[in-house]
Amino acid sequence: MDLYEYQAKDLFAKHGVPVGPGQRVVTDVEAAADAAAEFGVPVVIKAQVKVGGRGKAGGVKLADGREDAREKAEAILGLDIKGHTVRRVLVTPASQIAEEYYFSFLLDRTNRTFLAMASAEGGMEIEQLAVERPEALAKIPVDPIAGVDLAKAKEIAAIFPEPVRDAAAEVIVKLWQTFVAEDVTLVEVNPLVRDPQDDILALDGKVTLDDNAGFRHPDHAELVDTAAEDPLEAAAKAKDLNYVKLDGEVGIIGNGAGLVMSTLDVVAYAGEDSGTKPANFLDIGGGASAEVMANGLGIILSDPDVRSVFVNVFGGITACDAVANGIVQAFQLLGTVDKPIVVRLDGNNAALGRQTLTDAALPGLSQVDTMDAAARRAVELAVTQE
Ligand SMILES: Nc1ncnc2c1ncn2[C@@H]1O[C@H](COP(=O)(O)OP(=O)(O)OP(=O)(O)O)[C@@H](O)[C@H]1O
Ligand SMILES: [Mg+2]
Repeated sequence: MDLYEYQAKDLFAKHGVPVGPGQRVVTDVEAAADAAAEFGVPVVIKAQVKVGGRGKAGGVKLADGREDAREKAEAILGLDIKGHTVRRVLVTPASQIAEEYYFSFLLDRTNRTFLAMASAEGGMEIEQLAVERPEALAKIPVDPIAGVDLAKAKEIAAIFPEPVRDAAAEVIVKLWQTFVAEDVTLVEVNPLVRDPQDDILALDGKVTLDDNAGFRHPDHAELVDTAAEDPLEAAAKAKDLNYVKLDGEVGIIGNGAGLVMSTLDVVAYAGEDSGTKPANFLDIGGGASAEVMANGLGIILSDPDVRSVFVNVFGGITACDAVANGIVQAFQLLGTVDKPIVVRLDGNNAALGRQTLTDAALPGLSQVDTMDAAARRAVELAVTQE
């Protein structure tokens, strides 16, 4: 999960990373004006969207006083930044900036380690810097066991000018502590600034939390922006389903992530001519119980974009007859099923499973024996349902 800048800075502050003298998040111009008046100093008003390049898009503005803050907030709220509508802004006292730097810790998947990246050249986009002046960007591997102590941090901070190296190293240690303690996969500070007193401040923050470690962090739950979450994905999450909403018309259920991914491919291929696409990813996993099947079907059928559903199951430890029984019971649990469903059962106990579904004669449900033919059928049904 990506955090908003203000959430990232809250997390920084909790771990002692200096972030400047206070911040306030507001959703309307009046509150922005009030916040500016209360700070009583020039403030910066910043769009809170989970996308980069806010400044260039007009989403970061300096404001002096209540009226100016109102005008600037007015200009930023509602702005569309790369497809993200600005619904809240951060109001924070403007800091004095002597120099801007770049810093990040990230998971370096290719080299199976962590990586620190630092540059004394702020202002420029980091991707551009990496290409045009790679020597200005220090990339220093971080051993996950050894971590970052002050000595390691000084090695990383060597790219910064001498007067601020020690201060930067201390901040880097704290950023590493944040990274480890909160189970973070990316922390990026751009800009990390040097102020006229040679203090180091994090004036921006990008943090990605590792959702797989969520169970260790009950307090992270409140960082979820439920308003911005897709309602179907939220409902699926509440039921512990591995569901991702996509923008097509054929609902997909399968058992095993690999099978579901290939099902998406096969449906996309079958739908190429008619422009029909998968509506979601949903893996019901190994032990596909009736309840899980009912929950999965329930979520998919409630998606107004879905016109047909393809249930693709390869029986393994959970045999096809168990899955078939699950489908029958799911129909009972759901009551009405008003969209056509194509089922392909193969693998362990396929014959028994198919017989179970044939005997049940569920309304709108048809069976096709191969994955390709079933995908074509599901696409056809989606097209004729229009
Ligand atoms: N609190 C602040 N005080 C003074 N200047 C600031 C402050 N916050 C940001 N700025 C200035 O605004 C610039 C842009 O801010 P910021 O880095 O937060 O947004 P951005 O880089 O456009 O967004 P993103 O990082 O999402 O691409 C900074 O480089 C800095 O010069
Ligand atoms: Mg930035």
